[in-house]
Order: sequence, then C-alpha cells, then structure tokens
Amino acid sequence: MSWIKEGELSLWERFCANIIKAGPMPKHIAFIMDGNRRYAKKCQVERQEGHSQGFNKLAETLRWCLNLGILEVTVYAFSIENFKRSKSEVDGLMDLARQKFSRLMEEQCFLNVCFAYTSRHEISNAVREMAWGVEQGLLDPSDISESLLDKCLYTNRSPHPDILIRTSGEVRLSDFLLWQTSHSCLVFQPVLWPEYTFWNLFEAILQFQMNHSVLQKARDMYAEERKRQQLERDQATVTEQLLREGLQASGDAQLRRTRLHKLSARREERVQGFLQALELKRADWLARLGTASA
Ligand code: IPE
Ligand code: IPE
Ligand code: MG
Repeated sequence: MSWIKEGELSLWERFCANIIKAGPMPKHIAFIMDGNRRYAKKCQVERQEGHSQGFNKLAETLRWCLNLGILEVTVYAFSIENFKRSKSEVDGLMDLARQKFSRLMEEQCFLNVCFAYTSRHEISNAVREMAWGVEQGLLDPSDISESLLDKCLYTNRSPHPDILIRTSGEVRLSDFLLWQTSHSCLVFQPVLWPEYTFWNLFEAILQFQMNHSVLQKARDMYAEERKRQQLERDQATVTEQLLREGLQASGDAQLRRTRLHKLSARREERVQGFLQALELKRADWLARLGTASA
C-alpha cells in the first residue's frame, strides 16, 4: 500500500481545497518540522515515538500538497546543530531517516530533504565553490554575483520557496534557507509538528494569498535591481576598455552596444562552463562518498 497516496481528502477538505485553488497557489513550500519532543512529552510517549510520528506526518503533509497541486516541498529534517543532541537521540533519528526516507523515495515523490544542513554552511560552501572556479581559471573575479551564488547553492534547481512554515510556536529560522526565503511568506504556527493538520496548511496558504501581491512586487523589484546593477557594472567595464584603447568612452553608441553584448556573452559562456565543472565535481564527491560508506 502506498504511504503517501493512501487516503484522499474528505469531502469538506476537497471543497475548501477547490476554493483556495482559485487564488494564487504556492509552487514550493518549505517546512521547519519542529516540536516532536514536546509532542512526545505531552502525549507521554517515548521521544523516539515523537520523532517517528513526525516522519509519518511528513508523508501525510506531502499527500495534502499533492492534492493541492503544490509540486515541490523542502523540509528541514536535521540540522548540523542537532548532532549536539545525545548519541541515542541522534542514532534514533538516523535510523528513522534511513527507514522513512527510503520508503518516500520508493514513491518517487518530489521532496528536498535538508539533512545535516545549515544555511550558513550552504552559503559559505557556495562562496568556496566560486573561489575554486576563479582559482581554476574557469571564472573571472568580475563574474561573482548574487545570481551566481544562487546557482551554487544546493537548491539551484528549485525556485525559491513561496512559503516557509515553522511549527511549534518558535519564531526563528534556526539557520534554514536564509538566502532563499528573503521574499517568502513566513508562517509561524503554534501547532506541534506531529499534530499538524490539513487546516494548518490551509491557513498558511491563505496567509500567502493575502500577502501575494506584496511578495510578488518585492521579488520583481529585486530581480530588476539585480539586472540594473549588472548592466551598470558592464557599462563601467566597457568605458574602461574604450578609454584604455584611447577611444572616446561615450563616442560610438554602436561600438558600446557591441562591446556590452560581447562582455555578457563571454560571461555567460564562462559561467556555464564553471557550473558544468561544478556539477561534475559534486557528482564525483558524491560517488566517492558512496564508495567510502559502502
Ligand atoms: C524537530 O523536533 C525534529 C528535529 C529537530 C530533528 P524537536 O526534536 O526539535 O522537538 P522539540 O522542538 O524539542 O519539541
Ligand atoms: C530546527 O529545530 C531544526 C529542525 C527542525 C530539523 P531545532 O529544534 O533543532 O531548532 P532550535 O534549536 O530550536 O533553534
Ligand atoms: Mg525543536
């Protein structure tokens, strides 16, 4: 029996889902699944049982997302900081992750799992990768930009989350997707993760819909500003080149346009070459990791 697909929405849930789907829907939701231990304490069950129910809740939440047409979900399952917990808790979480995630993978579902993750680690790693690109001669220092850093993150294949949900009433990001959520709708909900319901998700989507136009505007403005800044930098470079060649910087508009075009085409070529090399480097690292742990 399928773990995710079993069980459909109730008639009332389906009715409300159809209403909400008439508005702008998120394409990608990120969850900080928090509150498993408090749940275990509240229900007087073992801590491991709280974590186990937390994993089960993830499967249920993915089913709701599928039913709502939300095609991408990212979850914070274990942070690097969580290694500081007791050995028995960490071992228990690793066992659960092995068991439950392999079951989720069998169902081919769309899920990004952040495990042994922190955002600052991800960002510093991306910076190191760009420095490596410069060192290898694949990149020019002037290629370094926010948009390149974005492409070096582990999330480079996904759109940034539309909504970030944290359960358990804690109002902090705990080093999760700090870069990717600057224009996301942040929703903090008091419910403990194993008790999360369809209606909690519904409420989060409503909040997103109420803020949608402001968020969209902020995203568009940010994208435009980034383009404008890049163009300004390119124009300054072309001016410098022309002056170095003894030409008048503002003289020939056609020449300036041609130079600008060449500059951005060459950058694009370098960036693509670097990203391909980076992908190979990462695949190689993963393959070596697989061999070492086999
Ligand atoms: C989240 O629940 C799960 C993990 C961090 C692995 P917690 O274990 O943090 O539970 P609380 O927040 O202490 O209740
Ligand atoms: C955040 O929860 C990490 C995960 C949910 C995996 P924590 O419970 O570990 O975070 P803090 O310590 O309360 O910030
Ligand atoms: Mg917690």
